[in-house]
Amino acid sequence: MRILGIETSCDETGVAVYDDAQGLLSHELYSQVKLHADYGGVVPELASRDHVRKIIPLIQKALTDANTKGSELDGIAFTQGPGLVGALLVGSSVGRALSYAWNIPAVGVHHMEGHLLAPMLEANAPAFPFIALLVSGGHSMLVNVQGIGQYEVLGESIDDAAGEAFDKTAKLLGLDYPGGPLLAKLAERGEGGHYKFPRPMTDRPGLDFSFSGLKTFAANTIRDADDSEQSKANIAFAFQEAVVDTLIIKCRRALKQTGLKRLVIAGGVSANSYLRAAVASLMSDMKGEVFYPGLAFCTDNGAMIAYAGMQRLKAGHTCDLSAAAKPRWSLETLPAV
Ligand code: KG4
Ligand code: ZN
Repeated sequence: MRILGIETSCDETGVAVYDDAQGLLSHELYSQVKLHADYGGVVPELASRDHVRKIIPLIQKALTDANTKGSELDGIAFTQGPGLVGALLVGSSVGRALSYAWNIPAVGVHHMEGHLLAPMLEANAPAFPFIALLVSGGHSMLVNVQGIGQYEVLGESIDDAAGEAFDKTAKLLGLDYPGGPLLAKLAERGEGGHYKFPRPMTDRPGLDFSFSGLKTFAANTIRDADDSEQSKANIAFAFQEAVVDTLIIKCRRALKQTGLKRLVIAGGVSANSYLRAAVASLMSDMKGEVFYPGLAFCTDNGAMIAYAGMQRLKAGHTCDLSAAAKPRWSLETLPAV
């Protein structure tokens, strides 16, 4: 079976063709980063308009690269939510229109399920059950994953997501949007021991996160520090160390609490190499194993939507042509496969 996947939940237009026998046949990605950089964050209206401009050429390219005609597909998956409603509407409208035109089923995919299953595209795919740490620009959550659609959210951020905290702190340090990867790069030149950021919500039981205080702490630290590049790098280091430490403490707790030995880390922040090094040491400590998506599939992409859509399509979880975009959508309400 062969499926087209479309992702338009935020500021990346992603399209991919996935075949359940042959794997990923093509994937195309257009990032709107430059468009939003001047504003220091995603401008929803501009995002929607740019998806409209890019989506059809990307679909044509993905089909050509996969040597597939639309009429040869068995389904079309699109991100149905959560995300920016205007951006979601572009992918969901195009996806449903093509499903009508080609007379094939449409499948509405949950964006976070896409992230969570992205490591399944790799040669070394995790087996169920596992704990998933999802850390993106919009979400931070720990999920007990017993199977596809069997998700128990163990904890999530009560305010800013991990990626959002990276981006906001990066902005305070004078870095461009999205600042997460730039802050990580700056931190490489930083030295530990100069600043000590808090580890929010680690001194009490539970698996929820709170990252907005770190941004405030960063603002105060930057205000009191000298303006040198080295101080900025030291602050970036201390901030990253605090976020990663906090994530590690909560991952350890989630693994202990559930007795699970496999950890999946996905979403944009899973590309962070300081996090990856810390997780490697955690897992060797816990005698467990960690799984990541390929670097290209950590941030938003069409391949993860095509993969998740294929699993849903095979289970008969298709949607009708009136299916609405869902800007807010709980992962726990998804049906099991
Ligand atoms: O999953 P994603 O592409 O989009 C959402 O669904 O939100 O994640 C984007 C987020 C941004 O906040 C970005 O700054 C962050 O992931 N990010 C990173 C790194 N690469 C991307 N944060 C820290 N270190 C990185 N290397
Ligand atoms: Zn995402």
